[in-house]
Amino acid sequence: MRKLFKPMLASAVLALGLAGCGANEKEAEPEKAAPKKQEEKVVNVYTARHYEADDEVFKKFTEETGIKVNVVKGEAEELIERLKREGKSTEADLFVTVDGGVLSNAKKTGILQPVESETVEKNVPEKFRDQDNNWVGMSTRARVIVYSKDRVKPEELSTYEDLTSDKWKGKVLARSSTNMYNQSLLASFIELNGEKEAEKWASGIVKNFARQPDGGDRDQAKAIAAGVGDVAIMNTYYVGLLANSEDPEEVKVAEGLGVFFPNQETNGTHVNISGIGLTKHSKHPNNATKLIEYVTDQEAQEFLSANNYEFPVNEKAEKPELLQSWGDFKMQDLNFEKLGEYNQKAIEIFNKVGWK
Ligand code: FE2
Repeated sequence: MRKLFKPMLASAVLALGLAGCGANEKEAEPEKAAPKKQEEKVVNVYTARHYEADDEVFKKFTEETGIKVNVVKGEAEELIERLKREGKSTEADLFVTVDGGVLSNAKKTGILQPVESETVEKNVPEKFRDQDNNWVGMSTRARVIVYSKDRVKPEELSTYEDLTSDKWKGKVLARSSTNMYNQSLLASFIELNGEKEAEKWASGIVKNFARQPDGGDRDQAKAIAAGVGDVAIMNTYYVGLLANSEDPEEVKVAEGLGVFFPNQETNGTHVNISGIGLTKHSKHPNNATKLIEYVTDQEAQEFLSANNYEFPVNEKAEKPELLQSWGDFKMQDLNFEKLGEYNQKAIEIFNKVGWK
């Protein structure tokens, strides 16, 4: 079959490093724009998002288009390294991850290329895309204050900064600073308020900890239910996951929790993004583009939000009831690139103030 596609053969040879001679390259040149429809009906995805809902969306895509989706799961950093190592010979067409900082790092390492699609541009507002469309948002997540409905009135809450005041001494819960969610939260404060304020905030939270950081976001919610602390810094979708859990204990935990969007009067609630990017050496760019169009389409966006409890990026998509019940909120206005830019600084600050 390969013999039919000279350009593909040429690029395979190039990848092997055997094509040193100009004659070969020249021959391949005029045929560069290979007929688009001749792509094999497959698309390969490297993903650091390990959600059943994503798999479901891929499955539906295959049903509707006949394009098979092969998924390789891994940690974001590991997948980026792999893409770098594999270079031109990579099988991956798409890279998926959570965190705007990681997405912008992926772009910087040169493993991605712009996706060209008017549909994608229509589906996803500019603020949720890389400026060159090297990655496109799939969902957003808000990192908020979750509180005990029994012990805290929402009127007592206001800002992230207020959690450092004496009235919250011994009552604040948060996971470890080794986690990207907290690193990006602090990175956003560095960008918006400056390094000094960011450090003041982190040390103030440490001073008010109910206990040393332990477990993930879900465990902070459970610690509220257990009376260990009254307020937790966590992503909203975990409340959705708990509320819809098969474990009745988790459902009970969720029932006792309130969701508060901080900094509404100031610079907004911290929002991070998960996204999808076309790999630089994709062998199926048309299929890959179709999949990006598909996951950002209203229907898939509603499905993801209804099953993952993240916020859709497509403004036409309706949020599930629970998310609607939390109301609308003002988000931080910041370039997601900044989360990557200040990641190291955030880690330094966390270490300095003793946020484990
Ligand atoms: Fe998560």
